[in-house]
Amino acid sequence: MIASTKHQAVLTAINDNKELEGALLPILHQIQHDLGHIPSEHVADIAEALNLSRAEVHGVVSFYHTFTTKPHGQHVIEVCRAESCQAKGGREIEAAVKEALGVDYEQTTDDGQITLEPVYCLGNCACSPSIKIDSQIYGRLTTQSVEDLIQSLRSEQH
Ligand code: FES
Repeated sequence: MIASTKHQAVLTAINDNKELEGALLPILHQIQHDLGHIPSEHVADIAEALNLSRAEVHGVVSFYHTFTTKPHGQHVIEVCRAESCQAKGGREIEAAVKEALGVDYEQTTDDGQITLEPVYCLGNCACSPSIKIDSQIYGRLTTQSVEDLIQSLRSEQH
């Protein structure tokens, strides 16, 4: 049932955009928007519709950071791994977030709620170390404050 809904969304994106010049990107954007990811099992449909190889489509999906092949959780936590944050204890923050969530980068918690991603500068270097939770940036973090943030994010869900 879920697979057929996904398949339908992929076919709709193909039909809506296939006549455009450079149709691949608009198709991928529409699928990413509608499903929250590009289902790997349907890459073949996209490739076939555009007369491309699967490898070409996979290449584009993996090149652009906006496209993901796994569904995102309801929330996304981005941990800054760039220089300023790393110099101000970013590695400890990173370890604390991974520990609290029980996942590594590019993974989603078992309950499907929170996806963890690395990011390279949030433009908040003056307040390093920084993370972003959904659209909100947090700075001057300690391992304790980051654990508290995750705790409150989790309690919002219940
Ligand atoms: S280096 Fe982390 S916000 Fe700029």
